Amino acid sequence: MINKIGIFDSGLGGLTVLNEVCKYNPGLNLVYFGDTARVPYGPRSIQTITRYAKQDVAFLLAQGVQAILVACGTVSATALPALRETFDVPILGVIETACAQAALATRTGHIAVLGTQATVASGAYNRALAEINQNLRVTGLACPLFVPLIENGFLSDDPITRLTCERYLAPLRDTDVDTVILGCTHYPFLAKAITETLPNVAFVNAGTALALALPKLLGEVEKQAQTQIEFYLSDEDSGFLPIANQFLDTVTVAGTRKAILDT
Ligand code: DGL
Repeated sequence: MINKIGIFDSGLGGLTVLNEVCKYNPGLNLVYFGDTARVPYGPRSIQTITRYAKQDVAFLLAQGVQAILVACGTVSATALPALRETFDVPILGVIETACAQAALATRTGHIAVLGTQATVASGAYNRALAEINQNLRVTGLACPLFVPLIENGFLSDDPITRLTCERYLAPLRDTDVDTVILGCTHYPFLAKAITETLPNVAFVNAGTALALALPKLLGEVEKQAQTQIEFYLSDEDSGFLPIANQFLDTVTVAGTRKAILDT
């Protein structure tokens, strides 16, 4: 039986998945890893993202986890097959469950996916949505400034963030898009700014979709009276703790440990 689950992202983004996982699956034993030394992943090549992701998974396995949640849209979109070929443990990404939820939500059949450059270029969300329903129309929009804004603490109430949302999301105004997938796990940090910029659409949080499906996808997992989480970062990051604790609903991050990756 699985008794420890690893969860990783390039930085803060995976916390939006962790938050939902803890909300809907209390009592898990988790190890979170944020690759803050190498964030962002989104502008990098598939080869580089895959190399980083393999090192991230290897680090988590060395901490004794028996399953991996890829809490990163970019890695899920570009490196999942390579990870599954390399490591013999269950490895779940965020794309299929988010697409299933979006396909159920849409009435017009036109879904937008907001993501990093690598995610949008990969077409992974388009393929997953087409597998569910070939008639869905999909518009992918890369929003490369969102991750650096979030990692630097420029969240929804900052005027720079508001302006960036206006600029990136303008192409979705006056269209029949009625459902938007936050295809990068960082983006729920900007939920308020994004939803206020596009007030008339439904949003899919990839973390919620995965968290709700987790029991079905992972099978039996050992639970304890209280959720336990160890946090590791690959670089000192003074911004991580305050932003994490401001965002997380059910979890407090008391401290982080330095992760030494086998590169
Ligand atoms: N949070 C990640 C994602 O879901 C990574 C973003 C980045 O590092 O560029 O895509």
